[in-house]
Amino acid sequence: MAKRVLFVCLGNICRSPTAHGVFLDRVQRAGLGGDVKVDSAGTAAWHVGRPPDTRSQAFARRRGYDLTALRARQVAQSDFFDFDYILAMDKANLDALLALKPAASSSHVGLFLDYAQSATKEVPDPYYGGDDGFERVLDLIEDAAEGLLAALRRDCK
Ligand code: 4NP
Repeated sequence: MAKRVLFVCLGNICRSPTAHGVFLDRVQRAGLGGDVKVDSAGTAAWHVGRPPDTRSQAFARRRGYDLTALRARQVAQSDFFDFDYILAMDKANLDALLALKPAASSSHVGLFLDYAQSATKEVPDPYYGGDDGFERVLDLIEDAAEGLLAALRRDCK
């Protein structure tokens, strides 16, 4: 059965759209485009309707990921029934998701970096920092994307 993955950060303009674009690329390259659905959302509503931060778009583009079509949205209650995996970029957003999760939801709600080789468990918010923060976001997300793809391949069998 198809698996549905939602990546979540605070604003849905830096980290989670980057995860969305990177993971979609991995899924498509693996020929799993029909088996895995990918989306992203923010726990906050500040940037709803906006494209990803221009810095996130630019750094992603340099590694071959196109984020231009993405638009920010806020996490909704229906997401807890529409997605199998809801993966937070950091612990604060994980806590926000767990507080929103309806009791009847069977979604796996956890940290995206639990799938990474790296010992780092949170993707640091790059919004108020420099360019190196955006590269770091991509490094951590590319690492976790490999692990998540392997986990989904096992799960899809
Ligand atoms: P994101 O980054 O959660 O990775 O999208 C942020 C974007 C905007 C803000 C904070 C974090 N903000 O405060 O507007």
